[in-house]
Amino acid sequence: MKETVTKVASLLHGGDYNPDQWLRYPEILEKDAELMKKAGCNAMSIGIFAWAALEPEEGRYEFGWLDEVIDRLRRNGVYTVLATPSGARPGWMAEKYPEVLRVNADGRRIPFSTRHNHCLTSPVYREKVRQINTALAERYARNPAVILWHVSNEYSGACYCPLCRAAFREWLKKKYGTLDELNHAWWTAFWSKTYSSWDLIDPPFDNGETSVHGLVLDWMRFVTDQTADFMKAEIAPLKKANPDVPVTTNMMGFYEGLNYFKFKDLCDVISWDNYPSWHEGDDRETAISTAMTHDLMRSIKPGKPFLMMESCTSAVNWKPYAKLKRPGMHELASLQAVARGSDSVQYFQWRKGRGGFEKFHGAVVGHLGTGDTRVFREVEALGERMKGLDRLVGSPFLSRAAILCDTENRWALKAMRGLIQEDKGLLAEVRRHYAPLFRMGVNTDIVDEESDLSGYDLVVAPMLYMLRAGIAGKLRSFVEKGGTLVITYWSGIVNETDLTFLGGFPGDGLAELLGISMEEIDTLYPADRNAAEVLPSGETEGLAPRYEIRDYTEISHPAGAEVLAAYESDFIRGLPALTVNRFGKGKVYYAAAVFEDVFYRDFYRKLVSELGLRPLEVDLPEGVYLSARRISDNTDCYIFQNYNTEAASVVLPRPMKSLESGESVETLTLPGYGTAFLL
Ligand code: GLA
Ligand code: ZN
Repeated sequence: MKETVTKVASLLHGGDYNPDQWLRYPEILEKDAELMKKAGCNAMSIGIFAWAALEPEEGRYEFGWLDEVIDRLRRNGVYTVLATPSGARPGWMAEKYPEVLRVNADGRRIPFSTRHNHCLTSPVYREKVRQINTALAERYARNPAVILWHVSNEYSGACYCPLCRAAFREWLKKKYGTLDELNHAWWTAFWSKTYSSWDLIDPPFDNGETSVHGLVLDWMRFVTDQTADFMKAEIAPLKKANPDVPVTTNMMGFYEGLNYFKFKDLCDVISWDNYPSWHEGDDRETAISTAMTHDLMRSIKPGKPFLMMESCTSAVNWKPYAKLKRPGMHELASLQAVARGSDSVQYFQWRKGRGGFEKFHGAVVGHLGTGDTRVFREVEALGERMKGLDRLVGSPFLSRAAILCDTENRWALKAMRGLIQEDKGLLAEVRRHYAPLFRMGVNTDIVDEESDLSGYDLVVAPMLYMLRAGIAGKLRSFVEKGGTLVITYWSGIVNETDLTFLGGFPGDGLAELLGISMEEIDTLYPADRNAAEVLPSGETEGLAPRYEIRDYTEISHPAGAEVLAAYESDFIRGLPALTVNRFGKGKVYYAAAVFEDVFYRDFYRKLVSELGLRPLEVDLPEGVYLSARRISDNTDCYIFQNYNTEAASVVLPRPMKSLESGESVETLTLPGYGTAFLL
């Protein structure tokens, strides 16, 4: 059952290390290795932006410094996560081959500057990447110190250059075959947009076409495919040199520019960069959003450990307010990643640089240059603690509940005009359903429409506006076989090119599954309120008699479903706000509106108890959260975290044992910001 991410049998602890910035400071490079050891670090990501140092002139490689760094670290017990440097290219390349530079949506080519701005299509760039990756792989892929490839950095954005535009047209030709098919799929008769030639089709430039939503969606899909194809090309030489070194690329949580689920098979392990805004507002809420993001990332490869590739030891300098992490928060936030299934705690960055954009970004080592700082001591203490957590390595985080949050559905909702224009509210709706499950300690995955749903007992589908091919059938068979589905308003409206279903909503057979027929949706002004009056029934035991409603009220009519709550006022009074439909061996709940938060708490409390989804029957105080990782076939490790600044106690349902000390615990007392690992 256990599957370790790398050959290392310990949790990885370390971060982005940029020795290439310090080549003129040999004493600092020496000191680094010593401090890494002191901090309990065992893995550093090296070379992420080192192309200029690795290939200072075209075809002339300088690997000497990297050899030395890798060896020095190895001698000090630190493995190398070796990067491919495609995140930023050297000056000579930009000068000689301007096509490698990206063209922005304003149509202008970015001059040689900054990073993350290469063309995804340029044959020259791909060839240059192939060459450097081949050279790196031939030199290091069999070096026992190298445990993982860190491919590029935070793939993101799109290029609008002539090469990319041509590639987009080819992609469309392959997808649609004829212009006639494309014109129908995109509904281009609207505003006389009918494309009479492929060459007329362009990406959605800033001053270009954004009203043809099929085009907007296909452009996002193309960018994802092109990025994935680029990554595939990056990986080829690495795997050729040694197929056993795993590959990852660092992702960015809910970043919406790419459909990360399409990278599932390219990555041996998923990794991501985690930068919550701690201490801005209520940390107990921030912890929920952060856990939800860990869960999304993990669920790209459900049940497999992931890596937290970056996080910050203290102040994140690019945030609007560069707030320091309060003492204790570093350990708490780091161990949250581990609790949600990460086999690492990695930082950006090991050492603060002297210059440049990130010189004041939190790091393990600051400009003082020693370990004699608060931040260093916290990292050191965490490193020490992590050494006692080896049993977690490779242990899966298993979920019986899943929430659908499909990236392509996000794109489609964003593009469509209607509802609450500025933000249709999908992520807020996802969080409304996620939070009560999380608060009860129910392990939950966040999956997409292509994910396999068959292993779950509960699937929640908030605002499933766009039904990609196959999802309706998958939901149907999930329920038929006994699954419980919760679905909301604004679901089953369009197909995958954003054409509405005809003949009744929700479409593609979902109306029958839900036992309702939807007619209209009302968008409420911010001050508008309605309410749901709960009708007494076996299904509504434990719910309050009334819940306030805001934002959206969908108007639907029962067609087989039992009405559990009805609108209290306005012209929709008496129409369903909440229904349940029995279908096959399962059930479908339909929530037609946005309810106040306590509704979701009450609703899921009942559902979770009916389905027996809690891994441990335990009352958790406010701000104390529970996660579970399966450390062996019949043992779960329960991880309790206290996001309060004060101590909190949890009465355990049975005596448990500390994973770390082996001591028996009956009532767990967690200090403020404390974490406990119990068996
Ligand atoms: C990103 C990048 C890093 C660094 C950090 C700073 O995650 O991958 O190179 O810029 O942000 O927070
Ligand atoms: Zn391009």
